[in-house]
Amino acid sequence: MKAAYINSYGSKVQIGEQAMPDLPPGHVLIKMKAASVNPIDWKIAKGDLKALLKLRFPIMLGSDGAGIVEQLGDGVADFKVGDEVFFRCHKMDMGTFAQYFAIPSELVALKPNNMSFEEAASIPLVGLTSLQALKEKGGMGPGSKVLIHAGAGGVGTFAIQYAKACGAYVATTASQKRFALLKELGADVIIDYQSQKIEDELSGYDIVLDTLGEAVHEASYKVLKPGGVLVTVLGIPDNETVGEYASGFVVKLVARLHNNKMQKQANKHGAIYKHLLMYADGGQLSEIAALIDAGKIRAIIDSTFTLDQVQAAFERSKTGRSQGKIVVTID
Ligand SMILES: NC(=O)c1ccc[n+]([C@@H]2O[C@H](COP(=O)([O-])OP(=O)(O)OC[C@H]3O[C@@H](n4cnc5c(N)ncnc54)[C@H](OP(=O)(O)O)[C@@H]3O)[C@@H](O)[C@H]2O)c1
Repeated sequence: MKAAYINSYGSKVQIGEQAMPDLPPGHVLIKMKAASVNPIDWKIAKGDLKALLKLRFPIMLGSDGAGIVEQLGDGVADFKVGDEVFFRCHKMDMGTFAQYFAIPSELVALKPNNMSFEEAASIPLVGLTSLQALKEKGGMGPGSKVLIHAGAGGVGTFAIQYAKACGAYVATTASQKRFALLKELGADVIIDYQSQKIEDELSGYDIVLDTLGEAVHEASYKVLKPGGVLVTVLGIPDNETVGEYASGFVVKLVARLHNNKMQKQANKHGAIYKHLLMYADGGQLSEIAALIDAGKIRAIIDSTFTLDQVQAAFERSKTGRSQGKIVVTID
């Protein structure tokens, strides 16, 4: 089968023949129709995560996608051949920029009925990130006041819609040219990050979702009410998560020092600091599919590339200027 992979960190993405995946018990084989680009894909290809994730070359690329169930492994009862599905794969077992992909069935969900494969492929990683950051880590519920940084990005465009679907009041940051879209997605307040300061405009927030990194932490804490939560998806994961993936003493020490520093900054503001490294979950994805089928969330696609163009799709993502998601279609 044709697939995208790298043979060394920092090298260009190769597109070539790879063996068909095995189909262990409990897995489904999916004929891929589309996959989406997430910044983690090109960060992995660059080697940014090599201290945390011990991956073997060739490293197959691609973290989520949509397709049709082609074959069932032993014991799979929750899907049938021909089902249209979408999913986020496990971090240690990537490779959705490929014609076929095998995955444990519990990580898969039925694709929303009202979405194309391209649209559905754009959802899993950012959808699960939004649910896990806002609901699980942040404790978001109806009436929560939530600030979502970088509202025009892949995570942001989903997170705004998800928070509104959950009954939250949503502020977001963006440049002027994104305002019309973000209003349409339901944002209650939009801060122009090029001319306004969030701490001058917002106060008393319950949750901040940080998709930009440490540069926005100090200002974000000023926006939170006492006891409010900053959930970041950037930087070093929490000590427990680092311990799950890495065994090296130095990696764990660096994580502890970093997390102590983050914690101290939060304490100074009477706030709570949390890091999310999102994880795959078919059950949560089914919840998201229900919101999509109910018309509460739609896909925002920045651009579409073919499987032969994965490197070009990565270059587009690396600009940090995409609006919504970048999708790779697969024949
Ligand atoms: N830990 C995890 O589990 C996890 C999960 C998902 C994502 N992430 C990380 O989260 C980050 C965001 O991911 P993404 O997919 O949303 O990225 P993305 O789609 O590449 O984000 C691009 C968007 O960010 C906006 N932006 C850039 N700088 C901004 C600023 N200073 N203020 C406000 N908006 C700004 C841009 O809007 P303009 O062009 O208008 O500036 C653009 O629309 C990535 O670093 C990714 O690796 C982590």
